Amino acid sequence: MIVAPFPLSNSNKAARLRAMAKSKVSYRCTSCGYESLKWLGRCPDCETWSSLQEETKSSEPRGAQKTRSFRLPTEAGVTKPVALGSIAEEPKARLSTGMSELDRVLGGGLVAGSLVLVGGDPGIGKSTLLLQALGHLSDGGQKTLYVSGEESLEQIRLRASRLRIEGNALLLLPETRAELVTAAIEAERPAVVVVDSIQTIYDSDIPSAPGSVTQIREVSARILYQAKSLGVPVFLVGHVTKHGEIAGPRILEHMVDTVLYFERSGASSYRILRAHKNRFGSTNEIGVFEMNEGGLLAVENPSELFLSERPTDAPGSVVLPAIEGTRPVLVEVQALVSPTNFGNPRRTCLGFDSNRAALLVAILERRVGLQLLGCDVFVNIAGGLTIDDPSADLAVSVALASSLRGQPVDRRTVLFGEVGLAGELRAVAQPEIRLKEAAKLGFSRAVVPKACLKRLEVPKGMEVIGVSKLEEALSAAGLG
Ligand code: TYD
Ligand code: MG
Repeated sequence: MIVAPFPLSNSNKAARLRAMAKSKVSYRCTSCGYESLKWLGRCPDCETWSSLQEETKSSEPRGAQKTRSFRLPTEAGVTKPVALGSIAEEPKARLSTGMSELDRVLGGGLVAGSLVLVGGDPGIGKSTLLLQALGHLSDGGQKTLYVSGEESLEQIRLRASRLRIEGNALLLLPETRAELVTAAIEAERPAVVVVDSIQTIYDSDIPSAPGSVTQIREVSARILYQAKSLGVPVFLVGHVTKHGEIAGPRILEHMVDTVLYFERSGASSYRILRAHKNRFGSTNEIGVFEMNEGGLLAVENPSELFLSERPTDAPGSVVLPAIEGTRPVLVEVQALVSPTNFGNPRRTCLGFDSNRAALLVAILERRVGLQLLGCDVFVNIAGGLTIDDPSADLAVSVALASSLRGQPVDRRTVLFGEVGLAGELRAVAQPEIRLKEAAKLGFSRAVVPKACLKRLEVPKGMEVIGVSKLEEALSAAGLG
């Protein structure tokens, strides 16, 4: 029997609406928070695939939910807009975490009442980093609170003794219930709080599972409210999804003041802490650590680290003095050019924009006459760094030419500059800082855009060659 489709009658519609109202289960997008009554393979709002998760709806009346919603603490009675100039500015000192590299990424220390989200792969060292920071603070006489929803007291004690933390003023709380966590913060008034991890903390009034979108949103809003009203800086540890993003709703990243990612640098024991968002500092800043038996150690001179495994006299390897945030970092740029065996030539880049690499290949082909279009091209920034400013253009172009010709570039030469479509070289920011760092690490020659030479103070013992065309740069690098 064939059942013919029939128009949705009014009575049918009413029945459907009644069923919807009764339904306790809904589906929510873990990426944008979109809510649907049916499971969908793709979120219609943010178009992410497989992001909808089942959650049980709260049966509370609307009013009760409202009182829990997030509101920034304002002074009593302020309901009208106030003039910016009339608000007294309190110069609030930043609190140093005792770890120079962490302070640097935070923008010079912790700001009172700020919420810092720290994400990273499992086992990368998030708990170690934050426990160490609290250890330093507590050694300096500050009362700190470490809330752990993942490890027992004994496990934390074990880790702390490995890190040689005394921790007389470091309070531990193995707890996952949000109301007890906030009550402990209220009662103890610590100088800094760590919540490890936000996915394990839950509010028992909300019928969704811990780690679900609703739970994370509500619990974070509670902690945020408390951090702002008590002026306590709070670190939230966040799990990451298999795509490398912090698990939970996207709005979590919008709610917090700072989002830090802890990443591995290659396969080594080095770790890079990077700010993805920072309301109180630059997002270009990186912190470099080394993980060893005693925990995480700050790497004071990352240039040495990034160049330590550089091969001697290998074609396709050049050194770029890059700027990461406010500090110069010397990195090795590697290129490999090999004839394409089948199909379209490949352009694969790690740590560098592949569109930019394709552009440089075309410029080298048309303006310098190198035969690159029929070749596979690979570009890699050694050490797991990502360089996204155009100052790497010259170094990448010279590395490509060096690999194609099979000729190494002089070991003591550094290069930087932006390359234009006509093969011209353009000035980049902060040439002096770059040259100083190169000179400090024993480099004696630099090939730079001519426009950078104006009012340039050349470090002692450094020969600086100004070039205006890519072709000249190649001859200056010994590849003419
Ligand atoms: P952990 O901080 O537990 O990572 P996360 O919280 O990000 O999951 O780090 C665990 C790793 O760090 C583990 O593989 C062991 C290593 N580790 C050391 O090498 N030295 C140490 O002193 C400590 C405490 C950990
Ligand atoms: Mg951990």
